[in-house]
Amino acid sequence: MSHYTDNIAPHGGQLINRICTPEQRAEFLDKAEYLPRISLDERTFSDLIMIAIGGFSPLTGFMEQSDYDRVVDDMHLANGLPWSIPITLSVSEEIAEPLKEGSLVRLDDATGRFVGVLQLTQKYHYDKMHEALHVYRTNEEKHPGVYVVYNQGPVNLAGPVWLLQRDPDPRFPTYQIDPAESRSLFRDKDWKTVVGFQTRNPIHRAHEYIQKCALETVDGLFLHPLVGATKSDDIPADVRMRCYEIMLEHYFPHDRVILAINPAAMRYAGPREAIFHALVRKNYGCTHFIVGRDHAGVGDYYGTYDAQHIFDEFDPAALGITPMKFEHAFYCTRTQSMATTKTSPSLPEERIHLSGTKVRELLRRGELPPPEFSRPEVAAELVRAMQAQ
Ligand code: ADX
Repeated sequence: MSHYTDNIAPHGGQLINRICTPEQRAEFLDKAEYLPRISLDERTFSDLIMIAIGGFSPLTGFMEQSDYDRVVDDMHLANGLPWSIPITLSVSEEIAEPLKEGSLVRLDDATGRFVGVLQLTQKYHYDKMHEALHVYRTNEEKHPGVYVVYNQGPVNLAGPVWLLQRDPDPRFPTYQIDPAESRSLFRDKDWKTVVGFQTRNPIHRAHEYIQKCALETVDGLFLHPLVGATKSDDIPADVRMRCYEIMLEHYFPHDRVILAINPAAMRYAGPREAIFHALVRKNYGCTHFIVGRDHAGVGDYYGTYDAQHIFDEFDPAALGITPMKFEHAFYCTRTQSMATTKTSPSLPEERIHLSGTKVRELLRRGELPPPEFSRPEVAAELVRAMQAQ
């Protein structure tokens, strides 16, 4: 029996599953003591998980050079499928040197727990500045994505991986819905069209507005906050998830929305990451994906709508998921509703929109963001969380 709906095929046609069977796990556990070890940081561990659960289909492991080069240079895998972000396991020369191509490598998490296995097929050097300039459009180390690239090892280890077992996320076990399950949930609900929403920030009214605008035209909304590694000044995932619970309780119809965690790490690659985010949601079974203002951006590295324009560089059929693009939304005091310049005749001074930085400043002072920006129950939760820090 197929695990997924036929509404939308996973990227590459098949949902990848790289979680060990009980037999494979037993075999790996037997060998574990004798295998060379590599320890994964938070980001590479989340990449391992995403590969294993099929979120990164068609990837079955960390990228070999043929995929890496094509992804960096022209946003496609070697087999021609669109893909915009390199998925690599980078280590130091000292760690790479003794590892033999063709051998198995044990993957541990940052605490030393055995979590997976890499079948090493290739080791290769790569050009960090080239990657930074192509993927992040800057080589400034203060860009959080570039910082990671510049501070990781110079050798990429490639090859297929296995995740030893899929443990429930200790923080959000009930919201851990992996692609095979989201696909079957969408099928059970008979949703023919589902829009995915990526976020790394606490929900505010502009988010709610574009989510609901999208939901007016599709069957279901898949709220998919990213809970993998983010930069240190982003609001922590547990606070963000509580805000979503509050919103679902008070402001959304329960039978039209599914809230689930996205275990991936944030790259802050703006336009390139918008493509990547869309492909990941395609793997979860979404037919549509919301791309608003400065999607996955940071600082002023990207133009407000660059993450929308980049979709024009791809063949829509090859992407296989439809972007739903939204202009900058704000509260309009003239029409007394959420709006964008597409729907409101307001003058700039009639528009209430706050930057993340501004909101953090308010919260730090213990002040509630205004109701035009944030639902009061969410604002209260944010102030509570900020003061508990
Ligand atoms: S992101 O890094 O995950 O993109 P965030 O959680 O702030 O950051 O945004 C989630 C989605 O909402 C993105 O598609 C973003 O473009 C969109 N978005 C955020 N704020 C607005 C806004 N005021 N108007 C329109 N779209 C917005």
